[in-house]
Amino acid sequence: MANVRFERVTKQYDNGFVAVKDLNLEICDREFLVLVGPSGCGKTTSLRMLAGLETISSGHLYINERRVNDLPPKDRDIAMVFQSYALYPHMSVFDNMAFSLELQGVPKADIRQRVQQAAQQLGIETLLERKPKQLSGGQRQRVAVGRAIVRNPSAFLMDEPLSNLDAKLRVQARAELNKLHKRLGTTFIYVTHDQVEAMTMGSRIAIMNQGILQQVDTPQTIYEQPNNIFVAGFLGSPSMNFLQAQVTGDNNQFWVKAANFSLPLSKNADSISQYIDQTVVLGIRPESIYHPHYLPPGIMPVDVQAEVSVVELMGHELIVYATLADGSEIVSRLDPRASLVPGETVTLQIDSKRIHLFDTETEQTI
Ligand SMILES: Nc1ncnc2c1ncn2[C@@H]1O[C@H](COP(=O)(O)OP(=O)(O)O)[C@@H](O)[C@H]1O
Ligand SMILES: [Mg+2]
Repeated sequence: MANVRFERVTKQYDNGFVAVKDLNLEICDREFLVLVGPSGCGKTTSLRMLAGLETISSGHLYINERRVNDLPPKDRDIAMVFQSYALYPHMSVFDNMAFSLELQGVPKADIRQRVQQAAQQLGIETLLERKPKQLSGGQRQRVAVGRAIVRNPSAFLMDEPLSNLDAKLRVQARAELNKLHKRLGTTFIYVTHDQVEAMTMGSRIAIMNQGILQQVDTPQTIYEQPNNIFVAGFLGSPSMNFLQAQVTGDNNQFWVKAANFSLPLSKNADSISQYIDQTVVLGIRPESIYHPHYLPPGIMPVDVQAEVSVVELMGHELIVYATLADGSEIVSRLDPRASLVPGETVTLQIDSKRIHLFDTETEQTI
């Protein structure tokens, strides 16, 4: 059981580079928190500070309300699964899993029992005598997780543990880690650059960019109410469309006008009124755009004409790239039955209730 708190934690490397800046983040006991962001944003650095493998330049780090800035890794009661797995090549699977327990002086019989049990949970009990090089990528990944499980730590830290697996195995391993988390009832802190992993695994997601935490919340809230343009664009595939737009209106009704269409705004007047006649960024997710023949009931759409440029049939959906009157590009996820061909003009229907507005300067959500 572990509760973790970063309080204004900053990491400046010896060369002066600030990799993590003023990180404030609380991770609750038994939570599955996913730390996500593009490569180089400071995820591994944050995790390594928590594991005790990297010094903290300033700020405070607490595990179970105990300040651990200067506590050595072995005393932190947490286990880390590395992206590279870091298995010892000359040792068998059993010995890899048993190694840390031997260092701790756990009795042999206990070690055997704990390794057997972890191996069973992970479905690798028949592989215990093999060496790492005799395993597939997926099996190695399980051994790396198994090595963490046997220690029975109060928190698991995982740094992109699935990134070396092929796409199909990754989907399977994702579900297995979710189940494992439920079974163990332990805090999981999971680092990934993959937004799909973040959305599907985390009970909460923390999104970082350039060393700065952008937003922490449940996947659904972050997806529906992103704080800023970065977060809005990071989650979702294809990404949210961002269009240059103007706010117009009077006291009764505000509109946002972009390219060749205007959308009514239902936002509260106070936040919008200061943007009248100013440029803003309009965000529209691809799935908030419909083909007229397949508009679900209950949506009051606004029509926009566009010229289809690229069509990708994905089976369950049709990804359509199209050009608006002002030359801007818009991508939509349409019903796969909509038959469109490049070059044709199509009427797209936008759900004006599900749009996002951002300040052009600050890039924050309005
Ligand atoms: N030992 C180091 N010295 C200097 N800069 C480093 C060091 N380790 C990492 N960095 C830099 O810090 C930034 C964050 O790195 P990292 O935490 O590994 O990012 P992520 O895991 O999100 O990809 C990167 O720009 C990286 O180049
Ligand atoms: Mg990393």
